[in-house]
Order: sequence, then C-alpha cells, then structure tokens
Amino acid sequence: MKVALLLGIVFTLSAAERIIVDTDCGYFGDDGATIAMLLRAPGKVKVEAVTIVSGNVWSGDSLRYTREILALLGARQTPVYLGADLPLRHTAAMAQEAGRKWGRLEFQGAFGEKKPREPQLPRNAVEEIIRRVEAAPGQLTIVALGPMTNIALALRKRPSLAGRIKSLVFMGGQLRVPGNASKQAEFNFWFDPEAASLVLRSGIREKTMFGLDVCNRAMLDKAGFDAIAKARTPLTQRFAEDFGNRYPAFYKNPKATVSLWDSLVSAWLVDPTLFGPPERLHLDVDTQFGENYGKVLERKWTEGVLPVSMMNTVNYPAVYRLFRDLLTQHVHAH
Ligand code: BDR
Ligand code: CA
Repeated sequence: MKVALLLGIVFTLSAAERIIVDTDCGYFGDDGATIAMLLRAPGKVKVEAVTIVSGNVWSGDSLRYTREILALLGARQTPVYLGADLPLRHTAAMAQEAGRKWGRLEFQGAFGEKKPREPQLPRNAVEEIIRRVEAAPGQLTIVALGPMTNIALALRKRPSLAGRIKSLVFMGGQLRVPGNASKQAEFNFWFDPEAASLVLRSGIREKTMFGLDVCNRAMLDKAGFDAIAKARTPLTQRFAEDFGNRYPAFYKNPKATVSLWDSLVSAWLVDPTLFGPPERLHLDVDTQFGENYGKVLERKWTEGVLPVSMMNTVNYPAVYRLFRDLLTQHVHAH
C-alpha cells in the first residue's frame, strides 16, 4: 500500500510540466497572481526559472517586484534572470506619436513610466532560456506572460531552439474583439509586435494562445475580489493593495471588472478541462508602424506560418474558484 502511494507521488511529481515563466510582473497584478498559482500547483507544474522582460513596467522594476512576490510565496530559491530592457523596435517616442496620430492609447505600460536605475545584474535571461532548453531538449514549456522580446531574442540568437522547445503557452493578441492598448492591438503584442511576429512565425511546434477573445470571458468583479482579499495573508494583502487601490481600484470603483488575463494560462496548465477546445489558426502580427501596429492577422496556411491553438471558451466560475483557492492558501505547498 505504502509503496503504491509512494509510486503515485513520484509519478505525479515526475508528470509535472517543466516550465520557464517569462514575465513583466508589476507590483502584483495578473502576472503576480499567475506566478503564485504556478508555484502553488507543484503536482502540475514545476517552475524551473523565471525570466523578466519589460512590459507592464520596466524590467528593472519588474525584477524587484517579482522577487518580492517570490519571497511572499516562500520561493526565494527560484532562479530569476533579468532580460530585455527594450522591445526589438518599439519605443516610447513611437507610442507617443501613435497616440497623437491614431487616437489615445488605453494603456502603454512601461512606456508611460520613468526608467529605473539600471540594476547591477547581468541581463542574461536570453542565454539562460537557451542554456536550459538545450540541456533538456523537448522537455521545457515556455510560459510567456508579457511581451515576447526575450523569447524572440533567444530564437534569433539560436534558431535551432524552436525545435527543442516542447511548447509555448502565452497570453497575448486578440482576433475578434478590440485591443486594450490601442484600438487594434492587445498590450503584450502592441508593446513588442516584432517579437510577437517572430515567435508566431517560428518553428515552435505547439503554441497555445490566450488572447483577449477568451480573456474577456473571465472578468473578476468586486465580490470575487472581496472573497480573496478577506483571507488577509501576506500574499492576498499585496493582491488587495494592487487590485483594490491601483488597478482596477475596486475600493474606489466597486462596479469595475478586470480580466484574469495571464492567470488563464496558469489555470489551463493546472486543469485544461476548464477550457473549451482551441481553434487552430495561422496567425501573424502586423509590424507596420501604423494604426494596426501589433494587431493579430489571420493568414492562409500557405504563407509559411505554423498554426496556433487559440483558446476561445472558458468555464469562468471554475477558473475563478481555482484562482481564489490557490491565492488564499495559507500554507505553502512546498
Ligand atoms: C496583458 O497585458 C498586461 O498588462 C497583463 O499583465 C497581460 O499580460 C493583457 O493584455
Ligand atoms: Ca503580463
């Protein structure tokens, strides 16, 4: 009996998906919640490293926030690597120009913020992604929660990497709903359209997309927020400070709602049955600097773009329960 139990545990552990999480985590937000969910589901995923990219905030700030969150999770030992500071081409000046020419931007993340002092640390996330994937070919899944700059740089530096990545799961883009950075583009794709295009065009075999189409079906409201905030653990206090006072500022705007965005990726990794079947589509990204910069484009299969599995439907009540239960855990699972 005991042996069977032990074998069961060993099997569960060894079946855990080995992942590298690439994030643009701000003070907490959906990235912070996602990191917490991933670290609190050790039977399902094993977070081997976290790499940092600019997006919501500049990467130097993101590094600090991510470390603070890992400390709250009792996971200081998780390796964290600083990555790209700037997108491949997009700049704050271009974003300003776009706002003037093509209409106000809903959100511009780091482009709207002061640059922090350069952290005294090597920017070695790209090298680490390459090193880790090459050490375990076909075994690592990349979980991309921000602009895909680091992943694009890794693929550009080592094109053979595409065939060695087991799969890529990302939050980004949208097809049949409006954008949330510009009218046409979702924030992660808008912040670095060239990177998103390069990654979608790459030979990574399995690409699973959580775009705004599915994310807009997963909206957290004040009641859902309250049920988490009332747990009053160090982690939920940080969650409450961010979602309550910063964005979407539930304490001030009790009618507000906010998408779980990145956290759908973690929910899916923990329990894929919470989602409907994906659509297989050939997608690319508009990289012409214009009104549609960063917009997802549907291509014909002949145009050399490998298919993406785009998620569309979600059992939101069940995803919310998972989100709430993992965020409010009192004891660390490891
Ligand atoms: C995406 O943009 C970021 O602000 C969120 O963290 C998420 O990754 C949503 O468009
Ligand atoms: Ca993010």
